[in-house]
Amino acid sequence: MLLALAWAGSATAATAADSPVATRERLAALRADVAHHDKLYHQEATPELSDYDYDQLKQRLRALETAFPELARETPTVAEIGDDRSGLFQTYRHRERMLSLDKSYAEADLRAFHARLAKLLGRGELAYVVEPKFDGFAVSATYEKGKLVRVVTRGNGTEGDDITANAIMIRRLPRTLRAGSEGDGGSPPSSPIPDLLELRGEIFVSFAEFARINAEREAAGEALFANPRNLATGTIRQRDAGVVERRHLEIVFYGVGAYVPLSAQPPTQHGLTEQLRRWGVPAVENSWMARGVGELWAAVQALDRARAGFPFPTDGAVVKLDEVALQREAGATDHAPRWAMAFKFAPARAETQLRAIVVQVGRTGVLTPVAEFAPVELAGSTITRASLHNRDEILRRDIRVGDFVFIEKAGEIIPAVVGVNRARRPAEARAFVFPTACPVCQTAVAQRAGEVAVRCPNAACPAQLRRRLEHFASRECVAIDGLGPATIDALVERGAVKDVVDIYRLRRADLLALGKDASKSSDRLLAAIETSRRAELWRFVHGLGIPQIGAVTAKEVARRFGGLDALLRTAPGDFGGDATGRALAAFFAEPRNRATVEGLLAAGVRPTAPATATAAFSGRLTGKIFVLTGTLPTLTRAQATEKIEAAGGKVAGSVSRNTHYLLAGADPGAKREQARTLGVPVIDEAAFLALLREE
Ligand code: IVH
Repeated sequence: MLLALAWAGSATAATAADSPVATRERLAALRADVAHHDKLYHQEATPELSDYDYDQLKQRLRALETAFPELARETPTVAEIGDDRSGLFQTYRHRERMLSLDKSYAEADLRAFHARLAKLLGRGELAYVVEPKFDGFAVSATYEKGKLVRVVTRGNGTEGDDITANAIMIRRLPRTLRAGSEGDGGSPPSSPIPDLLELRGEIFVSFAEFARINAEREAAGEALFANPRNLATGTIRQRDAGVVERRHLEIVFYGVGAYVPLSAQPPTQHGLTEQLRRWGVPAVENSWMARGVGELWAAVQALDRARAGFPFPTDGAVVKLDEVALQREAGATDHAPRWAMAFKFAPARAETQLRAIVVQVGRTGVLTPVAEFAPVELAGSTITRASLHNRDEILRRDIRVGDFVFIEKAGEIIPAVVGVNRARRPAEARAFVFPTACPVCQTAVAQRAGEVAVRCPNAACPAQLRRRLEHFASRECVAIDGLGPATIDALVERGAVKDVVDIYRLRRADLLALGKDASKSSDRLLAAIETSRRAELWRFVHGLGIPQIGAVTAKEVARRFGGLDALLRTAPGDFGGDATGRALAAFFAEPRNRATVEGLLAAGVRPTAPATATAAFSGRLTGKIFVLTGTLPTLTRAQATEKIEAAGGKVAGSVSRNTHYLLAGADPGAKREQARTLGVPVIDEAAFLALLREE
């Protein structure tokens, strides 16, 4: 862990004395490290190093490559590493290469950048734009005659993953560029829509959405996303565009690749931003103009102060020469333009001693190790604990109790252990022995094939039961006021509650037996339990804690099925072939889970069905049979199928007299003729979407 620290100063210090063989080995080792962390960062979205350390590592490699150009030529360079292609999508070649940016960390780097440009361009006073460095991942969106045709990731800079099907789920991504009216109301006239335009930008997730999704995952016992960027990357890589739709991704555009005709390109960076806005494209909203290096540094600092108030994550500033003519004159190296530079802000970091590792048992039995530190101040709050995720994580990173560790706030929110200060390891630091038995019920732990999580397999474990009850009674689920952790602990301890069903069997005497301040609060709690019997159906579905089913999916399930009884009656094969269907089938295959749901109904729980449930099931798509053909303009086949099934319809493979609609896209083939012959209505995507809306 923390290779960057071990390497500090070594790239230059060691090189003078080293033999070429040693340097070649050092270079190879450093490249292997970079490649390893690069893969984790770009392709798997599970980085082990903090961004800062990762950048430092790459800087060291670049320094070594510059010092030994002959050796550097023998193996792939940093520019060639840094590939986000996942193998899951078709790849697509960019018209213009997508470059990366050189990074700087100190005022001196920025001054050197300016000095280089001033010399190169032969002028001292240069105009710059300073923009936030959005912390998501880079994409290129192609518009042909103003119509969105494709969204592709950076990939290796030359070609990337075609993620169009997922990207179109992003609400703010325009499908068409809005043609501006000439010179209306004094605003500058909009340029004509280019024949071809590659817009360069970033997909990211706001802090609010990051918090919402992690809260849901925590409640469902699922692994949390370490930061908003990992969430954005993990989401856009989903095979199921429905997942993308349920997570609210943001997009911003800050540059262009190909621009045809080139002569129509706005002459400045700030002009481009204004033009994008007139076309209805989300563009950079917080930027600073600066003239000369003094103003440039002031602008970067102003951005650093302002970014605390931004609703999205930024890890630095991007400084760009404003004039496009000068940008062209300055040109680019093989991996980055000479006219722009990223300035990275160092994350808030603190060092503290790891006092203990405690193990918590979650709702689904997962054992989570949590680090407890000597309290330390970090970005305005006092930190005492951070999750260490799982057993393997502790082993892999060799974190020992007693170690001095570095803490950062990932995505500025959740504190995380980002490294161990090996140099300060006390002699008495000892390796943590992960428990082989549940710390609460003493059952031997188990690990499922292919999972890193270690679990307590005892479904009756009091720790799991407490977490399940807390979840069920929480505001996000059936919302039973007064049934908090303390009351739950007391009820579980006395054996009064062994399952969520038992909540509805509680009598006044059971509550009074808890002692405390007795009758008044007992009556209030009984009243709250009573009210919750009629909570909305999705709250019960969410409250059951079905793996993979959070609040948003629970709402879909409620709309689709309309009642707990309908879920019980559904045959395993009829839940649907998507991820939600599989999760429901697995849950309802367990007799214990069925008993809980049957018990709830027997105990008089009557969830309120969603208003649309009946509509969806007696509406026009119920029993309707669709056949799909050709390529639809925005929906994939899987997405269209999902929509049809969600509204109660079915999809068949071939057209017959029983077919209700043929949904046809481009190049429909023989099916359209068959439909015509049989008198089956042929509809396009727009008509199909309209049909869904009528539901
Ligand atoms: S301009 C040719 N502007 O930072 C330069 N990039 O580390 C094109 N980024 O690959 C990039 N915010 O993904 C630019 N305001 C901004 C940016 C930005 C974030 C990303 C981009 C780039 C990376 C370099």
